[in-house]
Amino acid sequence: MSSSASFRHSIRRGLSALFAASIPLYTGGWIGGHQSTFDAKGPVAASQLDLFYVTLWVTGIIFVLVAAVLAYATLKFKARNEADEHAEPPPQGHGNPLVELGLIGASVVALVFIAVPTLEAIWYTYDVPDDRRDQTYEVTAVGYQWWFKFEYPNEQIDGAGPLVTANELVIPAGRPVRVNLRTIDVIHSFWVPKLAGKVDMIPNRGNHLWLQADEPGYFWGQCAEFCGQSHAVMRFRVIALNEADFAAWTANQKKDARAVETTASADAAPRAQFAGFRVNEAGWSPEFDANPLDNWVQKQFPEKSENPALIAEGRRLFVEKACAGCHNIRGHEGVGITGPDLTHMGSRTTIAAGLLENTTRNLYRWISEPHHVKPGNKMWVGGYTDRETGNRILELTSEDVSALVAYLESLK
Ligand code: CUA
Repeated sequence: MSSSASFRHSIRRGLSALFAASIPLYTGGWIGGHQSTFDAKGPVAASQLDLFYVTLWVTGIIFVLVAAVLAYATLKFKARNEADEHAEPPPQGHGNPLVELGLIGASVVALVFIAVPTLEAIWYTYDVPDDRRDQTYEVTAVGYQWWFKFEYPNEQIDGAGPLVTANELVIPAGRPVRVNLRTIDVIHSFWVPKLAGKVDMIPNRGNHLWLQADEPGYFWGQCAEFCGQSHAVMRFRVIALNEADFAAWTANQKKDARAVETTASADAAPRAQFAGFRVNEAGWSPEFDANPLDNWVQKQFPEKSENPALIAEGRRLFVEKACAGCHNIRGHEGVGITGPDLTHMGSRTTIAAGLLENTTRNLYRWISEPHHVKPGNKMWVGGYTDRETGNRILELTSEDVSALVAYLESLK
């Protein structure tokens, strides 16, 4: 094959690949996954997807027209023999007012086609529409390096302020939810691709967005603004429940942490032992992925194999090892506010800011090796090791970790 033939061959292959790749863009059907914006599950995400399609079609038509004219000119005016190649170029024009005005007019029309729905979508997605404002549920999301705190101003707890959770935002389905966006440190960005586009959380600035999940569901979220070492693993979940389930959830969350009666001897306690975690080990089981919402429901109930003595030991260690200085466990000994609130931690499906499924093994891994799961996190830097020297200041034996895991899992 001559070099020009192989060049034409590559061009043809490139064009067919481009064409093939563009088909799923137009159909949307082939682009799935936990964080696919093509699978909109609420009105805000749907309006943003519609706008994307308007732009895609307008620019797609322009592309086809321009490519067709280019192809026509290339074929019609190409040199066909030796004489053509040495011939003088044909007479050159100096512009045709009709063509130029026509192209300007067509560009304006194309821009208007894009601009009108763009402005509509900007207004629509900025805040809850007036006619639905009285149904709005309000929450405040605060970004931390590298996790999310969620406050529920509508759910006040006597003597303790608003209900506070972390990393799993539970909302009522079918209602607009206004999310106030704050940050405690650097710029983060709040993004639940199937529910709404991203909005930044900026220091000293009150941003907000609104979203709605049309049906009960389980949605993946992600910090979408580079915010330091573990930005890529700063994730969260949104769980949308029907009105009754949501009311039951808030009622339970407003309770103090669950206390388990001690009945057995701690010496007899079987302890889970795990070792040898691989770096970047997957945090998910296929069983969880198959039906995350059912898994979430299961997490609301006490674990089947609870060990009251081990739980009591874990509760004691939680204070002794100074975990309580950074984490709040309402009604128990935890008082800290720099780390996530753990009052009902056992009822969440994820740990380490949406990174790992909340299982005994993963919890053991997270508490044993937090720096391997989420590099640079403050539990490790400052908690387990000295911030200045890097020397280890907190040692946990595998027995300690097993007891802490049992305690945290009991917090339903
Ligand atoms: Cu927070 Cu990226």
